[in-house]
Amino acid sequence: FTVEWDVSQAEKAGYPHFMLKEIEEQPRALAETLNPRVKDGEINFDEIGIDDAMLAGIKKITVIACGTAYHASYVGKYIIERFARVPVEVEIASEFRYKNPIINQDNFVIVVSQSGETADTIAALREAKSKGASVLAIANVVGSTIAREADKVLYTRAGLEIAVASTKAYTTQLMALYMFALKLAYAKGGITQDEYHAYVAELQKVPENAEKVIQNKELLQKFAYEHFTEHSVFYIGRGLDYAMAMEGSLKLKEISYIHSEAYAGGELKHGTIALVEEGTLVVAVLTQGDLIEKALSNVKEVTSRGAVVMVVTQEKYKDLVKDVADKIVTIPDAIDFEATITSIIPMQIFAYYMSVQKGCDVDKPRNLAKSVTVE
Ligand code: AGP
Repeated sequence: FTVEWDVSQAEKAGYPHFMLKEIEEQPRALAETLNPRVKDGEINFDEIGIDDAMLAGIKKITVIACGTAYHASYVGKYIIERFARVPVEVEIASEFRYKNPIINQDNFVIVVSQSGETADTIAALREAKSKGASVLAIANVVGSTIAREADKVLYTRAGLEIAVASTKAYTTQLMALYMFALKLAYAKGGITQDEYHAYVAELQKVPENAEKVIQNKELLQKFAYEHFTEHSVFYIGRGLDYAMAMEGSLKLKEISYIHSEAYAGGELKHGTIALVEEGTLVVAVLTQGDLIEKALSNVKEVTSRGAVVMVVTQEKYKDLVKDVADKIVTIPDAIDFEATITSIIPMQIFAYYMSVQKGCDVDKPRNLAKSVTVE
């Protein structure tokens, strides 16, 4: 009698793929990234040596990263600028390092990296430090090169991420950036103490909201089985939803090999809408109330050309979108800007099932490495 067993199967803990396991670990990872840093209703960064006086002195911020971490940085820009009113530039590390960037001791630089070993991000960090900037790393792997070389480190506590497609590392990067943004906003006087406490309390609901989205995965599996033969899928959104559209699109293309592009809704009519034809699948992210009317008009632009539209929205906006959507995926209601964190999860699950149905190597997609340690 022999038992077939291998280490990889054991580590998957019964899941068919690491990616699905990691998607489902997000509630825990989000809670572990946030909860130990909340004290008396506020974010506490004593462990990393960042206090309100230091934050109050920050004049401008540059966030540097690659791939999914770059998409997380984009969300960071939106929320930091909105609440702390500090200007933020977001840079692709491989571009930043070769452009002789205008950076000095007045810049507060944040580098975002799951592995902490991405060659371009390491080079960008060194470039920023050599020009006098102070660097905070948001990293997942403890003791990685980026974590060691940055002045300060805010660790995401996603745990080991094995699938090439980043999921729990991404949402915990968002959580870290939200924590930083809210703390900065309060230190800068951009939000009141009551608002600060309310936003932090709402952040603490994100793990349970993430769990609810995951419980709805059969619906996304069904949608994926209806669409896995697509040749091209467009993702659209405005504001924070645009940042999520970029990440949703990357997830799909990297593991299912389906061509996909993400567009800010208002940009469609400047060229890309020429590609929309009868039956084209468009995923529209519509979670932000202040932009929903504008975003709906973008959805109408594509449906009038025959597109099939899958909408990701909050429960509370379901009635607003039902007339234009062919398929609706809801996430639990939250304060709009915080609903952003959970809104990526349906797109991760959709991409996962598209890849499974196509028979692709979900965890190790072709041409990709988990950590890009060469240029
Ligand atoms: C995302 O699914 C990719 N695997 C990739 O874009 C990744 O986020 C990028 O290579 C950056 O990696 P890092 O976070 O380890 O620096």
